[in-house]
Amino acid sequence: MAATGSEQQGTKAFYVSTPIYYVNDAPHLGHAYTTVAGDVLTRWHRQRGEKVWYLTGTDEHGQKIMRTAEANGVTPQEWCDKLVEEAWKPLWEHLEIANDDFIRTTQPRHTARVQEFVQDLYDKGEIYQGGYEGPYCVGCEEYKTPGELLDGENGVKLCPIHKRPVEMLKEENYFFKLSEYGPKLLEYYERHPGFIQPESARNEVINFVKQGLQDLSISRSTFDWGIKVPWDDKHIIYVWVDALLNYATAVGYGADQAKFESTFPADVHLVGKDILRFHAVIWPAMLMANGLPLPGRIAANGWLMVGGEKMSKSNLTGISPRQLTEHFGVDAYRWYFLRAIQFGQDGSFSWEDFSARYTSELANDFGNLASRVAAMVGKYFGGTLPGATAHGPAEQALADSLARTVADADEKIGEQLDFSAGILAVFDFIKQVNGYLTEQEPWKVAKDSSEQAQARLATILYTAAESLRAIAVLLNPVMPTTSEKLWLSLGAEPPLGPLAAQRVQDTGTWGTLPAGATVTKGEILFPRLEEPKNA
Ligand code: MSP
Repeated sequence: MAATGSEQQGTKAFYVSTPIYYVNDAPHLGHAYTTVAGDVLTRWHRQRGEKVWYLTGTDEHGQKIMRTAEANGVTPQEWCDKLVEEAWKPLWEHLEIANDDFIRTTQPRHTARVQEFVQDLYDKGEIYQGGYEGPYCVGCEEYKTPGELLDGENGVKLCPIHKRPVEMLKEENYFFKLSEYGPKLLEYYERHPGFIQPESARNEVINFVKQGLQDLSISRSTFDWGIKVPWDDKHIIYVWVDALLNYATAVGYGADQAKFESTFPADVHLVGKDILRFHAVIWPAMLMANGLPLPGRIAANGWLMVGGEKMSKSNLTGISPRQLTEHFGVDAYRWYFLRAIQFGQDGSFSWEDFSARYTSELANDFGNLASRVAAMVGKYFGGTLPGATAHGPAEQALADSLARTVADADEKIGEQLDFSAGILAVFDFIKQVNGYLTEQEPWKVAKDSSEQAQARLATILYTAAESLRAIAVLLNPVMPTTSEKLWLSLGAEPPLGPLAAQRVQDTGTWGTLPAGATVTKGEILFPRLEEPKNA
């Protein structure tokens, strides 16, 4: 297959992945949180003009899916097809997720390559036959150690994440020699301090590996919903080994060498903290064993909590992403979770907090600024943006602050994945522009018809509109629909081209929006909220 036609042919893509989600049920707020974060990160890098590859998808094998399908009286494949097409893909579309690919682990492009990868490990002597006896959580699809289990009633042992009984497995399995990779992994973490993020996650992984790794059972033999072990068809490949390989098979591993080399490995694997060890221990060891390069970074996000518990399918308290987008709109939804929760930490959702931030930050600070400026350019200059002939210290202070804001947001969002700090930097700038207008009082200046006053009025409104031009670019990765509306209302498109073509690194260049642009009062960016139906 030929490499995709792009002006950056030959350079490696900035490759970001989400976990591939289990399709035993419809997506909830927690899944959407990780997927939106990845979307904002990749849109930010696109806005820098980089070649980007954003991958998401679904994890369709294993006991959890098999049992759900059985309980619903359909085959696992029918179940997965239905959920993917009716629930998962439509939600990502609704949330404006701009993924470049969507991998399903039941696709032949994946299954065939997984078999090859595992066969290679077997041929290299990395896999041996043995038996596993011990606890397993079907919710996590994970072998557990007795020490990590919680005590339930009547001596029943519970999974610490799902708080449900674990099952005792006794199976003939194949094992991967994971135990041999401990020292190599520790050395790798040491040499690459940014490999696991945040610091708390890195420390947890290092402590875990230092305690000594057990070999990993990589096959199951008591059910058959999975990819067959190529040399022994009584076994299927353990669902996590199958799933992790999606990051390689989706970008051409073993099938399209040019694409693989220009994409793999991922620069950032976004994962929930519950699946950190799979990504920071097992996945790198699998890659080392097969001589493949390791990812740039494993970035763990915290959990969205409801009532002090991890939000999950069984603990949703009735909130679905669509209920929130119906009430607040898609852009506010994309903005809220990244703005309100420090990425990497747990965070709680509440209608009250969302409503309060919507009203104060989006509607009052940002939305009002945009509508006030457009209204004044309309009223005083007939909708044609005037030039800034009286640019003075107050304007220069704002221009300087913009340059700092751009650098700060770029570092926080684009590099550190500190979305809340990056968004806050932009909203601080919005506050400064509001403060500037309050101080300059253009509505009073407008009453004086002297030439000097009119030049001041023109300069004030130019300054505010030019600030909004930059705000539209900086918020485009987070709130694409709102930013587009703002871009169009500033009349920026004919002179400057589409919003997507603006570069982050040029955004701080003051004076980019030319005088003469046609400013129109577009629709209200953030309408007043109705009473929530389900609060
Ligand atoms: N299928 C595996 C992942 C395989 S990746 C090779 C899996 N799927 S999952 O559907 O159970 O969850 C995947 C991810 O969803 C979590 O790691 C996390 O990124 C996200 N979240 C699920 N619930 C969440 C919260 N309550 N809060 C934040 N994120 C959560 O594990």
